[in-house]
Amino acid sequence: MNNYFELKIVINPDLEEIVADIFFSNFDCEGVVLEEETYKDLEMTSTTKGTLRVFLTSYPLNLYDILKTERELLKNRGLTDDELGSWEITLDEKENQDWSKKWKEKWTVTHVTDKIAVVPSWLDYTPKSDEVIIILDPGCAFGTGTHQTTQLCMKALEKYLNKGDDVADIGTGSGILAILAKKFGANSVYGCDIDETVIDVCKENAVINNTEAIFELNTADKITKKYDFVCANILHFVLAEIMGDLKNIMKPQALMSLSGILDEKKDMVLDAIRRENLQIIDTISQDQWVSYVVKKVD
Ligand SMILES: C[S@@+](CC[C@H](N)C(=O)[O-])C[C@H]1O[C@@H](n2cnc3c(N)ncnc32)[C@H](O)[C@@H]1O
Repeated sequence: MNNYFELKIVINPDLEEIVADIFFSNFDCEGVVLEEETYKDLEMTSTTKGTLRVFLTSYPLNLYDILKTERELLKNRGLTDDELGSWEITLDEKENQDWSKKWKEKWTVTHVTDKIAVVPSWLDYTPKSDEVIIILDPGCAFGTGTHQTTQLCMKALEKYLNKGDDVADIGTGSGILAILAKKFGANSVYGCDIDETVIDVCKENAVINNTEAIFELNTADKITKKYDFVCANILHFVLAEIMGDLKNIMKPQALMSLSGILDEKKDMVLDAIRRENLQIIDTISQDQWVSYVVKKVD
């Protein structure tokens, strides 16, 4: 059995998915696990620090240069050093262990609501009679069902999706939201992403969930079809940039679930919602994340 590398990086746990994506996009990364630690300082203020454990099948070449560039890009988009965390790193080579089992040990069934559970593909789980389950291999960075931003969109789908809706999921990641929409009775589901590595993962996830869905490499500005329900769980500054494109793919009176928004960054998204004259019909929060369900009224 080949050696593997376990990298530990100190991050702000809120940015787990962003940092994980850097490793999935640049290195031979097979999985990530976040360990959070909350402690109180001398003034009894709670701080949460996260260590992301990253499992790599080969040595991460140019690690420090790549992380430096990615960190600068995030800072250019408005994130501060405090928000990013220190990104202090340790890297260990591990011998003769089954790394693929090692990170899987951490995952279990995630109960998002009473009606939605996300089940790792290697576990047996018997759903309750009214429960919808999504079977996933959480090896892929985004859309494991454990992140608050994904769960906020899943809650919006449970509450607002109408059977027979045509649904688009922009920034589909693992395809989790598109697959859930189909299981909730959508007529058609379409998912797109800018990351070509996720498209095959989405297609495989659709197959193991026995759902019909179209997934492709695409962005909202290139889509001509219109949808009854749009999901977009993408970083706040991207949502703000593409809000007009998202609005363009909504049918009149369509709904859209916008997630990926840290509470302290919501103003940027709220400005874009106002600019596009979208009407907020619900605000759903979880921990320090906020999401909006908006309606196209003009
Ligand atoms: C936070 S993940 C969401 C994944 C999944 N939909 C979920 O809710 O868990 C964001 C995804 O959006 C993709 N993305 C980022 N910018 C995008 C854009 N402008 N258009 C389409 N996808 C984008 C990323 O590649 C990533 O897969």
